[in-house]
Amino acid sequence: MSEEKKGQLAIFGGKPTFPKPLHVGVPNLGDRDRLFARIEGMLNRKVLTNRGPLVVEFEERIADLVGVKHCISMSNGTVALEIVTRALGFEHEVITPSMTFVATAHALQWQRITPIFCDVTPGGHHLDPARIRALVTPRTSGILPVNLWGRPVNIDTILSVAGQYDLPVVFDSAHAFGCSYKGKMIGGFGKAEVFSFHATKFINAFEGGAVVTDDAELAEKVRLMQNFGFEGRGQVSHVGINGKMTEVEAAMGLTSLESMDYFIRHNKGNYLAYKEGLQGIPGVELMEYDEDEYCNYQYIVIEIDERIASVACSNLLEVLSAENVDARRYFNPGCHRMEPYRSYFPNAGMLLENTERLLDRVLTLPTGTAISVDEVNKITSLVTRVIESGRAVRSRLRARAGTLHNIAEEGVAKCADFR
Ligand SMILES: Cc1ncc(COP(=O)(O)O)c(C=O)c1O
Repeated sequence: MSEEKKGQLAIFGGKPTFPKPLHVGVPNLGDRDRLFARIEGMLNRKVLTNRGPLVVEFEERIADLVGVKHCISMSNGTVALEIVTRALGFEHEVITPSMTFVATAHALQWQRITPIFCDVTPGGHHLDPARIRALVTPRTSGILPVNLWGRPVNIDTILSVAGQYDLPVVFDSAHAFGCSYKGKMIGGFGKAEVFSFHATKFINAFEGGAVVTDDAELAEKVRLMQNFGFEGRGQVSHVGINGKMTEVEAAMGLTSLESMDYFIRHNKGNYLAYKEGLQGIPGVELMEYDEDEYCNYQYIVIEIDERIASVACSNLLEVLSAENVDARRYFNPGCHRMEPYRSYFPNAGMLLENTERLLDRVLTLPTGTAISVDEVNKITSLVTRVIESGRAVRSRLRARAGTLHNIAEEGVAKCADFR
């Protein structure tokens, strides 16, 4: 690589491509005036929580968009998972992937249910139906697949395997609001599904979540559990907790929903720019969406095959970071390598070879309305340059690591002098 070209990358001393960091998951904001008008109405009504009119409207809108009979809004997706799995009587062991945000596993463990981690398919990053059978024991009480990145798992096969063992299935669809499977919206499958409306999700309610289901009995139970078990004033008919969404969160959720088409259009534009810009780069593969389905395009995920790309995922992360591109290694190192699961199952990795391999090579890149197509083009051209100069990049990073190490050592020595 020419000196001039090397100089362009920040790790070789060049100026960072972006003056300020570009992050993954910067919140999408809808129309501020609409939000403020809703908050004004809320303040005038003096109804701040306890299923006020904004929460009711939000639940109706979600149920309508997804095409289910019941939506119970929640304070967040984690509590939604905890409540619905408890309402369904999940206990002892539940089969779920390790390649997910840790909340999926924690929602179970919080109830002293053991998450049994199942490997994923290499291509889809999804719970592998062929591996579920081997994990079913007399203690298995349910299956909790994750529609990771907003791409649906192989729902038909998973439901069919679950049916053979009479196991209820709840889908963690925290990423998959606004997406479809075989033309039907995610939210209408299994016993129930859970959404997250956290600030980093493409539709946000500041914090928030929802359980959606067509099962009236389950919906009633979930609603009771979400509100301390209150059936009427002063009348408690069930054990419960506080999982309620507030009015101000619903105000934000409703305002986000009004801009949903724009958010998706913008995400799709970024996705297509990434697809074009990353095409043909050896060893870099973009996780593609099925454009014939409804997609929210909220995650840009690439896999780096170090043997071909000549740089590792961690190298690319470092180079991008120096350029002010704050890419993320979702969901490295995997739940099974986090506590308490790591201590419970120290050898779990032996049965999770696809999960381990993928988590070592997956990188999530910035998108959302805070990121423009122009910025995406600059990011893809950076990735191209890094891969083109793989060997030089690696040796520069090694040297940098040595320098940083020496600086740290020197710092320690200096500190020692002062003592
Ligand atoms: C796959 C997955 N499940 C569950 C959750 C939990 O949702 P929340 O943050 O709303 O509690 C998240 C949140 O990011 C998630 O990504």
